Amino acid sequence: MAAQTPPLSELLLQHRPGHALPQPFYNDPAIFEADLEAFFYRDWLYAFPACLLEKTGSYQRLKIGAYDVIVLRDGKGEIAAFHNTCRHRGSVICAAAQGRVAKLTCPYHQWTYDLDGRLLWARDMGPDFDPSKHGLKPVHCRTMAGLVYICLADEAPDFDTFAETVAPYLAVHDLSNAKVAHQSTIIEKGNWKLVWENNRECYHCAGNHPDLCRTYPEDPTISGVSQDGVFPDTVEKHFNRLEQAGAPSRFRLSESGEFRVARMPLLDGAESYTINGKIAVQKKLGRIPMNDAGTLLLFHYPTTWNHFLSDHSITFRVTPIGPQETEVQTTWLVNKDAVEGVDYDLKNLTTVWEHTNDEDRRVVEDNQQGINSPAYEPGPYSASHEDGVIQFVSWYLDRMRASHLPDAMAAE
Ligand code: FES
Ligand SMILES: [Fe+2]
Repeated sequence: MAAQTPPLSELLLQHRPGHALPQPFYNDPAIFEADLEAFFYRDWLYAFPACLLEKTGSYQRLKIGAYDVIVLRDGKGEIAAFHNTCRHRGSVICAAAQGRVAKLTCPYHQWTYDLDGRLLWARDMGPDFDPSKHGLKPVHCRTMAGLVYICLADEAPDFDTFAETVAPYLAVHDLSNAKVAHQSTIIEKGNWKLVWENNRECYHCAGNHPDLCRTYPEDPTISGVSQDGVFPDTVEKHFNRLEQAGAPSRFRLSESGEFRVARMPLLDGAESYTINGKIAVQKKLGRIPMNDAGTLLLFHYPTTWNHFLSDHSITFRVTPIGPQETEVQTTWLVNKDAVEGVDYDLKNLTTVWEHTNDEDRRVVEDNQQGINSPAYEPGPYSASHEDGVIQFVSWYLDRMRASHLPDAMAAE
């Protein structure tokens, strides 16, 4: 018979520094719920690039844990978000994953809301009914340099520090003039933290990513978090060359460890994530004057990592579905005037990351299966190759301890 899972507070205290997490963190339904509460229902979450909502009334529906959210472009051209639950008897209002509407009409009894959430029409509700008290409930929503973030908390944490730090790095990529060239949504049968742990190191790259390794350096100073703040000469030179060209590049890690931004070089002479290493899109997205500008790496826990290149950009969104199931959505952005078949070949643009995502899906699923064995025992991370994973896990544990062990934290 399986042993009983120790309480979360005990598991949080038991963790051996520098080691992977105990099994329940990766497969226990109660810890999955605790993760949703501590992170996904509280933090700013990346949604998608703003250019996905091209016109007034365009919307996307997002599901995060128990929540169902509509993100739309309103009548003023702003992006706003609302809970997708009718103020009458609670039906979802948008049943499709995306679409375009003039007004939001509930399919059940046709209560009709404006794109700003105000209730405009409700049939025969009597003289005492006050429509102004039955508008859609808003969800916090911010657009930063062309990327949309939402927050489900009643009171959203600070977004400005992130936006003020990162927006200058993104400005040269001109995401307001982007269009979506391709989007892929895959399900990885693994816990969301395994998806992140895998993303935060390239110790696995040589053995698993033949296409990516043509252009992406597996050097841990590129994918890691540089605990000592020191970079090799080649990287320093790259920072200087790009900064002189007007592209902010220097490594920044936020105080809380929640986000990191740095423009890193690709392998010798490589320009973009293609099989031949050359740019994929001739009509480039952004204003970086050289092709070999490397990749602007941005992660923001718990939902997104990104690559912004000299010719195109790729955003990734992580959405937990269940204790052992995570959705990863990848969006390829190109210049809105670039024409498929003329300025770029879609297969050439997407092959490397389509393959890489599939390879990552496989390693995450294998990792999950091995962890599920009663014989699993958390092993040590490589301090040199997996400092990014160590950083992610300590960020996760610090936050969980703050939520679940406030007394222990105060005593430290
Ligand atoms: S539940 Fe929406 S109109 Fe009745
Ligand atoms: Fe990978």
